[in-house]
Amino acid sequence: MRNITNERELIALALALIGSTTKLSSEERQTRKGIRPTKSERLIEATRKAIQAGDDPLGQAFAEIRPSEIRREKGATYTPAPIITSMTTWAAAEGAPARVVDAGAGSGRFLIAAARLFPKAKLIGVEFDPLAAMLLRANLAVLGLAKRATIIVGDYRQAELPRIKGKTLFIGNPPYVRHHLINEADKNWFADAAASFGVRASKLAGLHIHFFVRTMQLARPGDFGVFITSAEWLDVNYGATLRQLLADGLGGVALHVLEPSVMPFADATTTGAITCFRVGERPDNLCVRSVESLDRLNGLSTGTMVSWDTVSNAKRWSTIVKPGPAVPPGYIELGEICRVHRGQVTGNNSVWIAGEHTKGLPEEVLTPTVTKARDLLSAGERLSDHQQLRRVVDLPTDLEQLDDAALSEVKKFLRWAKQQGADQSYIARHRRAWWSVGLKDPAPLLCTYMARRPPAFVRNLCDARHINIAHGLYPRETMDDITLDALAAWLRDNVGVESGRTYAGGLTKFEPKEIERIWVPRPDQLVV
Ligand SMILES: C[S@@+](CC[C@H](N)C(=O)[O-])C[C@H]1O[C@@H](n2cnc3c(N)ncnc32)[C@H](O)[C@@H]1O
Repeated sequence: MRNITNERELIALALALIGSTTKLSSEERQTRKGIRPTKSERLIEATRKAIQAGDDPLGQAFAEIRPSEIRREKGATYTPAPIITSMTTWAAAEGAPARVVDAGAGSGRFLIAAARLFPKAKLIGVEFDPLAAMLLRANLAVLGLAKRATIIVGDYRQAELPRIKGKTLFIGNPPYVRHHLINEADKNWFADAAASFGVRASKLAGLHIHFFVRTMQLARPGDFGVFITSAEWLDVNYGATLRQLLADGLGGVALHVLEPSVMPFADATTTGAITCFRVGERPDNLCVRSVESLDRLNGLSTGTMVSWDTVSNAKRWSTIVKPGPAVPPGYIELGEICRVHRGQVTGNNSVWIAGEHTKGLPEEVLTPTVTKARDLLSAGERLSDHQQLRRVVDLPTDLEQLDDAALSEVKKFLRWAKQQGADQSYIARHRRAWWSVGLKDPAPLLCTYMARRPPAFVRNLCDARHINIAHGLYPRETMDDITLDALAAWLRDNVGVESGRTYAGGLTKFEPKEIERIWVPRPDQLVV
């Protein structure tokens, strides 16, 4: 919207559309303080017309005005229309709910679409951001839906719903906020809430998983729901909470995973998964589908039925949604012979990677380390000389191990590091001693894992360590150099970008588990 250039103007427009009779929450009143409704009749009328025509000019203006980095921290990425249409179509096929709850409602795209389909349903929008809540109210007011709606301005994890007769539909796009940005109290809430359903909880779970757990707390048997989230929970350890809930009380009905190339959200490179559930009424089969484009969503009506026994026994769900070909004879998964570990995260590379600021530190605490993918890409087949590598400050947890001269230099460095906030990073606060990066043992085979090209597999002949820009391959049993060389050569020749996960935007990422799943010839077949 060309006439709206900042958040104050957007609020002024929303206030004009909301009108003076609606009571705002204290958070919204605080946010609108000093802002009066806009007086531009032309702007008000044009916006009203666009909303009535089915557009979301306020939500679009919000996305343009508030920088994507800031919105991303709060998980504020609004959903495109084809996804909303398909999700509400699925809900309608389940029957008319008495109430619709939009969890993390934003400007209300889901709530409004559901309001049209279910003209008798009560509408509840839960939204943490007071500005977004005002956009939602404005949209509802223009569409004459305000009377049917209750807006809860606050955290969905604390939202309460009155008991009603009839079913509730839970719908929405729960915010994708990673665990680093979730505070300890909220993580503890999550752990307790998950435990009350007898499921495992990990502190690494993102906010979208918290939303599922809250939904489980709020829902009654017979309620149903459909959420779109990023798809990573299908495979990662911390996704187990959600996988277990769906397998049990939350009642997973269908899972539609958008192919990575679909890029469902304009400003986020996540792969989307749409999850449909019927609380307390899990069917015998889960309907799964991999969807190549938004126009193939088709109201989420098709898919392959996979028995829940198969699904709940699977470690990763993405292979159930899109099974790969069977392992060829004579091959095994790389993970059977090698563990793959991501390199250590330092928490603050500008402090822990040596440079001018580490002059004076003793050599013994400066460890040659692969710190850039380029270190491996330029090494070719072998990394033989650690002289060209940068050093990482790798201090022992017990500094008293150092002699007096070394200790004094280290203390000087640590005083400086503290001034840089190096003790405050999430990683530093969670290691045994904030100053001890704890590099992993040298891996005999290293690989890059994220690029628009296949990973580089490089033999590590100089015992270099690696940080998290690379993975290390550690043989489970002793492997001689000839076999290691042959394995590296085979991987170089045979692993293409298609073996990893392509993120929307074409970047291919190989997680350690994905590298472990690469099929390789048995070691005795490698060396001929
Ligand atoms: C991914 S956006 C979805 C917005 C809208 N439902 C849509 O799909 O267009 C998630 C929304 O959740 C809101 N949000 C973030 N944390 C929240 C919380 N703890 N409780 C309620 N809403 C939250 C964000 O402000 C954002 O508007």
